[in-house]
Amino acid sequence: MRHLMSPLDFTTQELDRLFDLANDIEHNKEKYAHACDGKILATCFYEPSTRTRLSFESAMTRLGGRVIGFSDAGSSSASKGESVSDTIRVISCYADICAMRHPKEGAPMVAMERSLIPVINAGDGGHQHPTQTLTDLLTIRSLKGSLGGFTIGLCGDLKFGRTVHSLIHALVRYEDIRFLFISPEELKVPDYITEMLKNKDIPYEEVTSLEDVMPRLDLLYMTRVQKERFFNEEDYIRLKDFYILDTAKMELAKPDMLVLHPLPRVNEISVEVDSDPRAAYFKQAQYGVYVRMALILTLLELA
Ligand code: CP
Repeated sequence: MRHLMSPLDFTTQELDRLFDLANDIEHNKEKYAHACDGKILATCFYEPSTRTRLSFESAMTRLGGRVIGFSDAGSSSASKGESVSDTIRVISCYADICAMRHPKEGAPMVAMERSLIPVINAGDGGHQHPTQTLTDLLTIRSLKGSLGGFTIGLCGDLKFGRTVHSLIHALVRYEDIRFLFISPEELKVPDYITEMLKNKDIPYEEVTSLEDVMPRLDLLYMTRVQKERFFNEEDYIRLKDFYILDTAKMELAKPDMLVLHPLPRVNEISVEVDSDPRAAYFKQAQYGVYVRMALILTLLELA
């Protein structure tokens, strides 16, 4: 039985197969409409979500399966003190596969160890968000044609943003990738990530000005400042609007640069950018359904 805790759980060859399947699903939806007939997905979300939970639910429904679950720890028996280990042992009696989001780093891993069904990490604290990474990689591969040979700027909250950490770990396995980390000093990418890049001899720069590096980027991955991970509200207020991508900044970019964002956005991308053909973040959300359909089929060994 396979689980998904990190994007590195799949080899790059396995990821290629997963993305080929997701692209086939995109173009042949009817072929998969009953692939999960009789199967049940449990969505156990101890932390808020719109995209991840609903795209999982949409994915399973589009495959012909059904969904059970909770969207708030307060409405589950976690509020009475039940452990994640006991919860997953019980969920294993009710469902065939489980997607779990939890505010504590490592909680889905604890669940995986006790589970009788495949567990998917749907985001654990500031640690990892592997299915967002699968979404990001599928979007890049589908819209850019490959997963190598580009300069990617990651901008915003690089300290707490788990999507950023997962994406960097996934991208270092591909050829000829250059990273530009664009953040205020307080929200720099963690040292363990820059150490990993140094050890692998992968080029990266850390800068604060988005305008200065815009002309060099093939991809710009914007992120929101993660309010929920700040200890101090004053710091959040000071940093939350540090970067705002607007049409003036887009004019500095290459004509084929793509803007990605895991969403939700707050202020970091002006709505005026949405009509720019280089704005790919809503397409990215759509790819999130196809890749989760492919993942469910793969973990249930139905593909
Ligand atoms: N991208 C993402 O994880 O969004 P949600 O928090 O809405 O699931």
